[in-house]
Amino acid sequence: MPARLAVLISGNGSNLQAILDAIRLRMLDAETVVVVSNRKNAFGLERAARAGAPTRYHPLKPYGEAGRSREEYDADLAELVKEYAPDWVVLAGWMHILSNAFLQQFPYRVVNLHPALPGQFPGAHAIQDAFEAFQRGEIKQTGVMVHLVPDEQVDRGPVIATAEVPIYKSDTLEMLTNRMHQTEHRLLVNALQRLIEGD
Ligand code: GRF
Repeated sequence: MPARLAVLISGNGSNLQAILDAIRLRMLDAETVVVVSNRKNAFGLERAARAGAPTRYHPLKPYGEAGRSREEYDADLAELVKEYAPDWVVLAGWMHILSNAFLQQFPYRVVNLHPALPGQFPGAHAIQDAFEAFQRGEIKQTGVMVHLVPDEQVDRGPVIATAEVPIYKSDTLEMLTNRMHQTEHRLLVNALQRLIEGD
C-alpha cells in the first residue's frame, strides 16, 4: 500500500517535484494525496496540478484581518490536511513556523527539509547565512538535513538524514544555492524512502 504523503509548500516546489518524479519513476512507494500552499501563486501548485495531485490553498492573511490567531490558522490547516488521512506530512519549502495546534495532530509524522546541517543556521536564510559564514572563514562546508518536527523548535528535531555540501571560493551564492537544491532533492527522496520502509 503506497504511503500517503501530504506536502506543504510556499514557493517554487522543486522539492515537491523531486517527490512527484520519484513516485512516477517508482523510486518512492508513495502517493501525494494533497499539496497545500499558503501562497496562491506558488509554482509548486502548478507542479502538483500537472501531476494530478489534489491542491489546496490555505492563506494566513484572512486570519490576521479577522483578528484570528496563528493557532487557529494552524488548527484549521490540520483539519484540512487530516481530510486526506496522510501517513506523513512533508514540509518542502513551507515557510511558516507551525505551532503545536498543527504538530500535535500528526505526532512524529511531520518531516521537515532544511538547507543546513543539524544545529546550524536555523530560519529562512540558511543558505545565505552559510555562504556568508564561509566568506568570513567560519565554516569550510555546509549541508542539508531532513528531520522530524515533534515540537515547536524551529529547524531542529530527530534527524532522519543529512548530506554535506561543499562550498568553493569561486562560488557565487547562486552556484551554492543550486548545489544545495540538487542535494535536497536527492536527500528528501532518500529520507522519505527510509521512513516509509521503516513504517
Ligand atoms: C528549499 O531550500 C527548502 O529547504 C527551504 O525552501 C526551499 C524550497 O525550495 N525551506 P522549493 O520550493 O522546494 O524549490
